[in-house]
Amino acid sequence: MSSLQWGGRFASAPDAALLAFGSSLEDDLVLAPFDVRCSMAHVAALASGRVLRAHDADALRAALERVAGEIDDGSFAAWALAGSFEDVHGAIDARVRGYAGSAGERLHAGRSRNDQVATTLLLYARDRALRGATLALDVAALLEDRAAEALERRTLLAATTHWQPAQPVLLAFWLDAAAQPFVRAAERFARVASDAARFCPLGSAALAGSSLPLDRAAAARELGFGAPSRNALDSVGDRDVALDLLHAAARAAVAASRPSEELVIWATPAFGYVRLDDAASTGSSLMPQKRNPDPFELVRAAGARAIGIYAGALASVNGVALSYHRDLQEAKAQIVAGTEAALAALEAFRRAFAHVQFTGASSARAGDGYTVATDLADAVIASGRSAREAHRLVGERVLEAETEGRPLDRRDAVALGVPDAPVDAAESVAAKRTAGSTHPDAVEASIAATREAIRGLSESLP
Ligand code: ARG
Repeated sequence: MSSLQWGGRFASAPDAALLAFGSSLEDDLVLAPFDVRCSMAHVAALASGRVLRAHDADALRAALERVAGEIDDGSFAAWALAGSFEDVHGAIDARVRGYAGSAGERLHAGRSRNDQVATTLLLYARDRALRGATLALDVAALLEDRAAEALERRTLLAATTHWQPAQPVLLAFWLDAAAQPFVRAAERFARVASDAARFCPLGSAALAGSSLPLDRAAAARELGFGAPSRNALDSVGDRDVALDLLHAAARAAVAASRPSEELVIWATPAFGYVRLDDAASTGSSLMPQKRNPDPFELVRAAGARAIGIYAGALASVNGVALSYHRDLQEAKAQIVAGTEAALAALEAFRRAFAHVQFTGASSARAGDGYTVATDLADAVIASGRSAREAHRLVGERVLEAETEGRPLDRRDAVALGVPDAPVDAAESVAAKRTAGSTHPDAVEASIAATREAIRGLSESLP
């Protein structure tokens, strides 16, 4: 049996190297279970439209079940990769024809790989978006658990801008901050999952719809879509939701990359704010003393990779006219590769973060670098002077203290006429008044609200 799904109008065989160049099998094998579900729904559409007789439909379903079993146990992948197929869809079609006898020859009625690829990709998007949402929520919950512990201990930290000491904050505040992008990532993934369940492209055929009486509504229902898609020409070339999946995955990778950057630096002996368990550290092949935080560096790089792939996928679609053109195969490969890589990075971040131990060393240095200067200035403003004047007066105290090689202290507060103003990191944090601040009560409130959002979101996921 030919591994190609066409041939009648060709007098000679295709060039093997060009065929290999055109194959996406290695990239789209991961779509196999979704193609089987799509093919099952196509059988339903054909049977309901009476294009298929019941016994042929039964034979096709049995063959598809058998292929599904082979996909689960890995034997399908081994078989397909040993052959020469253009894509996973052609490989499944060939396997079904091998198992279903003459009924196998009837599966592709009224179907093109164009609507098949579009539908399969949406099923994949729904699955991976839900996985991404769950993973992002797991990470957010883990960060909030660690935030609650750090709040108990009142561990302090000099938060930075430009990597320069800025203001004292609670470590719990930082952990709660790191959780927020993961909650938003989960929300983004959830929107993608719901968009991926709206319109079913199956039955759009090559681009114009079909002359066969396919029951598109039955296929859409079977696959859990809201309705058949509206326009076949759009449907076969539309990659919007799949690109949104890749975008959501890349954004989740970025959410993991940014705190990774901080953890890498905090793990250096110069900082020593965190220690990574052996389980998440790597050594050097040459320098015996080394303990490297590789997982977080790789998560950081995975963000960069996902962003690059996203840009590539979008560019692949950019020049493509309406309907299907082969560039979309390249876009599909990028969508799958980028999504898998980003989800793997999210999972790695979750695992590695569980091995981060906060040493508490940051507390002792939270006041270094004159981080209470802003609190002193605030106190001066509260005593009635202008912001400009307060800024200048405190700046002058900082210059003087720096020249004398000492920190700001109570004498500075007294000299500024604000004797009760905060002069150390703990007082600074306790002085905060605004909602969403680093005051322990505000952090506690944010942790509680975020945990509530995580619970609500997990319950809303199907
Ligand atoms: N290999 C193609 C892909 O994965 C299948 C669609 C081919 N359609 C076509 N008209 N050549 O995107």
